[in-house]
Amino acid sequence: MVTAMPATVTKEKLARLSALKATGEKIAALTAYDYPTGRILDEQGVDLILVGDSVGMVVLGFEDTTSVTMEMMVHHIAACARGVKNALLAGDFPYQSYETPAQALENGRRLLDAGAEAVKLEGGTSQIAKIEALIGAGIPVIGHIGMLPQRVREEGGYKKKGKTTEDAGRLLQSARDLETAGVSAIVLEGIVARVAAGITEECAVPTIGIGSGPDCDGQILVVHDLLGSFPWFQPPFATPKAELAVETSEAVRAFVGELKSPPLQR
Ligand code: KIV
Repeated sequence: MVTAMPATVTKEKLARLSALKATGEKIAALTAYDYPTGRILDEQGVDLILVGDSVGMVVLGFEDTTSVTMEMMVHHIAACARGVKNALLAGDFPYQSYETPAQALENGRRLLDAGAEAVKLEGGTSQIAKIEALIGAGIPVIGHIGMLPQRVREEGGYKKKGKTTEDAGRLLQSARDLETAGVSAIVLEGIVARVAAGITEECAVPTIGIGSGPDCDGQILVVHDLLGSFPWFQPPFATPKAELAVETSEAVRAFVGELKSPPLQR
């Protein structure tokens, strides 16, 4: 059971994100999917913690995020929420869980009931009706434009966005539409750095970049990429600050070795 954050606390956290943009202090954001990680990130001053649908890849072992369900998100959000007090805790809508405004509203409420204080959904201008329905019901929304992992199969891979003038213009228009709809922040994923910088300058809401250059208002990483705990794939834009997979292997090897070859008894 998770006790929901009072609305005033969530409002203060959202206001803090806006204040960070205003002062130019960078917003530190990371994903988390469980209690200990959520708690450690929170205790170390992360501003925004996202229970991303990347859980499907880095925790559950799926090839991409399209197998993630509402049940999985609810389970992981609830675990993470037990450890998070100070950061804003956002929960991702999984694939095909927000096909209509009514479905977005129903599932948005489930993500909040699980312990999220804000929800994130992928897509720009085409998602405005859903975003308006959520915000109209008092559910804070984080937008997500650029490279959209839930479209990886349709697009045949993870492709950089904003390379042409037309695409850059479309991204800027999406960001403007999201801002007008009232989103609290916008994730810019896999966007050409110059274009992401332009969106950040144009928009009053904070932008949180991932693989979109240094000039966004904040940066988000999948926590496994920061910790070196998912060694089978390392995105080029993420510099690991630890090697947890290596340390885990060493600890397990030591345990197995000691158990199977105990020191000789005299
Ligand atoms: O699911 C996720 O982890 C995300 C972030 C990488 C932005 O959407």
